[in-house]
Amino acid sequence: MAVDVCVAPNQSLSPPADSVLWHQDFLLGAATAAYQIEGAAAEDGRLASIWDTFSATPGKTLAGDTGAIACDHYHRWEEDVALLASLKVDAYRLSIAWSRVMTADGQPNPLGIAFYRKLLQALRAHGMKTFVTLYHWDLPQHLEDQGGWVNRETAYRFAEYADLMSRELAGLVDAWATLNEPWCSAYLGYGNGHHAPGKAQLGLATQAMHHLLLGHGMAVARLRANDPAAQVGIVANVGHATTTGATVADQRAAFLFEIQNNQWVLDPLLKKTYPAALWELWPGTEPVIHDGDMALIGTPLDYLGINYYFRSNVISDGQHGYTEVALEGVERTQMGWEVYPDGLRHLLVGFRRDYPNLPPIYITENGMASDDHVVDGMVEDSQRISFFNRHLAAVDQAVKAGVDVRGYFIWSLLDNFEWAFGYERRFGIVHVDYATQRRTLKRSAHLVRQFLTERRSKSLSQA
Ligand code: FCB
Repeated sequence: MAVDVCVAPNQSLSPPADSVLWHQDFLLGAATAAYQIEGAAAEDGRLASIWDTFSATPGKTLAGDTGAIACDHYHRWEEDVALLASLKVDAYRLSIAWSRVMTADGQPNPLGIAFYRKLLQALRAHGMKTFVTLYHWDLPQHLEDQGGWVNRETAYRFAEYADLMSRELAGLVDAWATLNEPWCSAYLGYGNGHHAPGKAQLGLATQAMHHLLLGHGMAVARLRANDPAAQVGIVANVGHATTTGATVADQRAAFLFEIQNNQWVLDPLLKKTYPAALWELWPGTEPVIHDGDMALIGTPLDYLGINYYFRSNVISDGQHGYTEVALEGVERTQMGWEVYPDGLRHLLVGFRRDYPNLPPIYITENGMASDDHVVDGMVEDSQRISFFNRHLAAVDQAVKAGVDVRGYFIWSLLDNFEWAFGYERRFGIVHVDYATQRRTLKRSAHLVRQFLTERRSKSLSQA
């Protein structure tokens, strides 16, 4: 029997025999996003996005890093597709840069569109499923100059963009996602200013959220009409909160954390209403809503993408809200995020209980950053391997508890531009040397490939 010399004897990515992970139709994929990997920020007619502006503003990102070059994926996409194919992943989740494919007056940019067409064709040629996100936070700057997501017009522009993309790329996409993590766009972008465009007012965040979701709702109809064979969904980040506090107010604090992080997005999508408790947390911030908006936002979805990273510990802030208190002695990642797989199981089971119309779920992001280095051609990312094993087990438990989870995407394929944290935080299963753009498979990537190879050979032998 051939021995894979890259695999450490004591570590593997090997789910138990009864795990859903062994099912051939449970997708195991990898994810990236346009601004985090593409670079080529001013090439082929690409316009500036809010992340170009924000990251070029002194003090906004760690070390002043920007996505101007990133992983140079715009030029190296063929190498990256070959890399994906070599890992044997079932699916790849990518995003389209709006500012690459549409001019300021709403006309198509053929060069930008051709890039994504070639990329999707190549992925399909390798037999990979394509999951395409239309908006992973990179609003064209010219739209931000008109008020961005706080301006209702942006929702209409987004629907036009979705219309164009689904006409141009119909037949090449297995699953469209309208938005990635609208919570981050709205709250980090307009509520606390940690992300582009850097505004910090809660009333702006709630209005931005409403317009993001409205844009989503309008886009769903266009995507379905233009590309009827594709699945249509949206991706939400979710957080789990617990409290070490002893009071009823502390319990309430954990509840309100989840209202703010989860139900603010999921209730309008799945119940056609915002959670009333949000206005208790943030009094006086109700957005302007037009007749018919909530029905559009609540358009049924083919799937829901869930991104999960960590748990938060909160206590009452003594008023009507919560405050975070870091737990001592827990395992953390390079981001400082707690490793807490059971939060994922807990949330998935809770969503199934609370939303009778919960669509099928894909875990569209899960992963961790570590301070990885190449030593003798290898990166030993043992914490990441253990992280994946434990989170995949949590997903399996959720499936066994009745949640319809159909796939899991590793965040991320490559080390990349981690937003306000720049290039220091490495989330990839493939290491990127930013000076040379050399890609090196980390141990985790070798193990993903080994597992998927084994899974395929088992299914062939059973066929
Ligand atoms: C998510 C983002 C993704 C990446 C991970 C670490 O919130 O969607 O782009 O930055 O966090």
